[in-house]
Amino acid sequence: MTTRFHRQVLLGVTGGVAAYKVAELTRLLVKAHIGVQVAMTEAACGFVTPATFQALSGRPVLTDLWDPRVPNRMAHIELSRQADAILVAPASADFIAKIAQGSADDLLSTTVAARNCPLLVAPAMNREMWGNPANQRNIQKLKADGVVVLGPDSGEQACGEVGEGRMVEPQQLLEAVLALYPAQRLIGRKVVVTAGPTFEAIDPVRGITNASSGKMGYAVAEAARDEGAEVVLVSGPTGLTPPGGCTVLPVRSAAEMLGAVQSVLAGTDLFFAVAAVADYTPAEPAAHKLKKSKQPLTLTLKPTVDILATVAALPHPPFCVGFAAETRDLAAYAESKRHHKNVPLMVGNLAQRALGSDDNEIILFDAQGAHPLPPASKIVLARQLLDHVIRLSSKGNS
Ligand code: CTP
Repeated sequence: MTTRFHRQVLLGVTGGVAAYKVAELTRLLVKAHIGVQVAMTEAACGFVTPATFQALSGRPVLTDLWDPRVPNRMAHIELSRQADAILVAPASADFIAKIAQGSADDLLSTTVAARNCPLLVAPAMNREMWGNPANQRNIQKLKADGVVVLGPDSGEQACGEVGEGRMVEPQQLLEAVLALYPAQRLIGRKVVVTAGPTFEAIDPVRGITNASSGKMGYAVAEAARDEGAEVVLVSGPTGLTPPGGCTVLPVRSAAEMLGAVQSVLAGTDLFFAVAAVADYTPAEPAAHKLKKSKQPLTLTLKPTVDILATVAALPHPPFCVGFAAETRDLAAYAESKRHHKNVPLMVGNLAQRALGSDDNEIILFDAQGAHPLPPASKIVLARQLLDHVIRLSSKGNS
């Protein structure tokens, strides 16, 4: 599974006509920024081909317990550990019986048995099968085991009979999955994030840059997107794939970054200056490639505009968050930057710990003092940072 999506669902498809509706569910989940890994039973493949789900989920569909594409060849453990939830839809009577018994004889049943996340099932079967006492006993067992049973609905069935047993509609299944996650708190809010390094040209082929990878800024953009915000990511040159669903403005120099930020600032509620912006830029970049000589070369650098301080000084600024990357005296420097740039929150981190790494250790400095967060991945820290910002900004502390 890729990590592009914060939320991951394992969608287990078992044999049933309703499998065709689960193709639509896959599309709805992906549209809601939920990563979908599909696993199918052999019977399911008789109704809809894996190619359909592969195209809609953007990921290879797994059907085999011994799939060689799974790194450690323990697909059932791998799949369950990477999912926040497992949804079996449609869930056939046979598969429900397997779950009830803890039976594990194929990829999906083994994954379900090995799960450490919530399990939801959407039964779909003929009304007599649904009402069959053995099936009803199994359903009661599932419920007693904490499995969420969604439906079934009543109505016309594929077999032509009318009654209880239809799978609930894809939209309702989507809502059941979304209900597992906390409410999105930034719906209707606009968030602008700067990320990555800048590149200040010396001549057409050379320049001054720094070691920022952009990972922290991209994580903040992703976390804000997951909270439902409209996100604009103004990014210096990085090798990263931007989070889906964000507007990305690629820039190179500090001056371009300033221009891009100013062009999108109207209506912005939160501004995160995560970029490592160059403080100086060559005063007169050469129009042509500089030629080597035996003499020392002196470059004259002029200061760049401080983007964060400029935004924070606006008459009605968004809630501004700065990032101070220091190599020593973190608390003193971060606090002083918070005052000088006049922002309510400065995130401090040690450059040697953070640069290029997937994880980080940060301290939040605000008017109440210092709030250290435990070391974690950048995406986890970005989510905790957003929690803090949402609390602070809703107190009108901007
Ligand atoms: N920043 C900015 N524009 C600049 C320089 C910095 O918006 N021209 C922002 C950064 O994005 C960050 C914060 O200011 O949010 C602090 O950046 P940092 O480089 O740590 O601080 P500087 O003010 O540049 O101070 P110094 O380099 O002396 O540590």
